[in-house]
Amino acid sequence: MVKRKETNIISRQLLIDGKWVDSISGKFFRTINPATEEEITTIAEGDKEDIDLAVAAARKAFEKGPWRKTDARDRGLILLKIMELVEKNKDELAWLETLDNGKPISETKNADLPLVIDCLLYYAGWADKIHGETIPVRGEFLNYTIREPVGVVGQIIPWNFPLLMAVWKIAPAIACGNTIVLKPAEQTPLSALMLGRLCQEAGLPDGVLNIVPGYGPTAGAALAAHMDVDKIAFTGEHTTGRLIMKAAAGNLKRISLELGGKSPNIVFADSDIDSAVNGALRGIFFNQGEVCCAGSRLFLEKKIHDEFLGKLSDRASRLSVGNPEDPNTQMGAQVSKEQFDKILHYIESGKQEGAKVITGGERCGNKGYFIKPTVFEGVNNSMKIAQEEIFGPVVSTIAFDDMDEMVQQSNDSPYGLAAAVWTRDIKKAHKIARELKAGTIWMNTYNTFDAASPFGGYKQSGFGRELGVHALELYTQIKSVWINLGT
Ligand code: NAI
Ligand code: MG
Repeated sequence: MVKRKETNIISRQLLIDGKWVDSISGKFFRTINPATEEEITTIAEGDKEDIDLAVAAARKAFEKGPWRKTDARDRGLILLKIMELVEKNKDELAWLETLDNGKPISETKNADLPLVIDCLLYYAGWADKIHGETIPVRGEFLNYTIREPVGVVGQIIPWNFPLLMAVWKIAPAIACGNTIVLKPAEQTPLSALMLGRLCQEAGLPDGVLNIVPGYGPTAGAALAAHMDVDKIAFTGEHTTGRLIMKAAAGNLKRISLELGGKSPNIVFADSDIDSAVNGALRGIFFNQGEVCCAGSRLFLEKKIHDEFLGKLSDRASRLSVGNPEDPNTQMGAQVSKEQFDKILHYIESGKQEGAKVITGGERCGNKGYFIKPTVFEGVNNSMKIAQEEIFGPVVSTIAFDDMDEMVQQSNDSPYGLAAAVWTRDIKKAHKIARELKAGTIWMNTYNTFDAASPFGGYKQSGFGRELGVHALELYTQIKSVWINLGT
């Protein structure tokens, strides 16, 4: 159990219609600290009946509540206020996130929280700039469009960046005037619940943001299938994405999906090798590799292959893995036993298929879900460890000397979320950027994000773009209004 004085920041109930309530079933589920394998606390477990209440509250707030008449600029002000409260409570939020997810406190403080704050600021600025057009139609008519909110939106989020994923979803939805039912991942409900409290304190009206923690096949599935939900936004596994698409068919609700990846990170011999080594490390070991756009397939040009791998494995083996609450820790624990086992299983599969572990390849310590940073050499793109998403600190390196063949292999994946290229040759860089089938291309950088720049997938990495102006498309719909100016 939590011993720190901050225990008072932990909310354990569902947020429905502005009230903190237990679930109808009265059930609770455990949330675990993956670094110690111990229970942090228990959380009210939402199920279909609770989702029904939350959706009804969101519907009421959308149709009848003050939200409908809240001026756009005031929606922006509420987002600014939420931003200020997050800023004020950032140490507690960072600590909660580290406790629940296992990621190092240096990352929650220096990556997650700044991105969260920036995203709130960015969408606060959009709230009063979402407008329609007047259109020069034929005849004596005035035709204009209004961009209206979609209505009640269901948002189902994963455990790898719990607070950031919540904010990527709620900030544009609030800016556009929707009401929300948010289902956090069962592994990491704590930071979203605290965010709910801060949203209330910021003056978000009751029912605009409802939060129902619970399991996927129960609470999540009920939200995806709900006939009174107008849109579902989902981030998670591609197989879950398929289930959500099917469930959404009942009332043809709009969907946007951000699914996994197997992103190629391509290093040419003419790159700045040391910065590419840094990029490869950041690409795969940031957040314990639990990143949808992780650079999990590392393509190395043969000329620099040995030198690069030497540097990479040396640096990887010296990363400090351990207590996520220690400010010097560079890699924390995997989120759950399930993920831990899955990753170790993939490591075995890589060995069996003939790839060679040059560093790592096993658990770290004997308590907590820690895995050593792992580098595989001699991977063939058709191996399981090159085709399937491992979602852990495991990089598969593939040597190349022919550019066309490398591009073909890079694209030979069911996924297409991101890709990176390291080179000093600007012409080559832009040429490859066009050829890679991915929603984000990084040149001489990795895992670079900004709230203003769109993020989303090609192929089975999903569809719809979050962040930037593009997320406004997800949370608005267009009404065309005609006025007869003739006789
Ligand atoms: P998941 O897709 O099952 O979970 C993500 C969210 O979806 C959670 O909130 C979960 O409760 C919910 N969910 C699960 N089943 C559902 C259903 N039938 N209907 C509605 N909601 C449902 O992912 P999981 O099982 O936690 O992780 C498995 C793998 O998925 C990971 O190893 C990784 O490869 C991938 N993943 C990808 C993420 C990404 O950012 N693209 C994030 C999390 C996982
Ligand atoms: Mg699952």
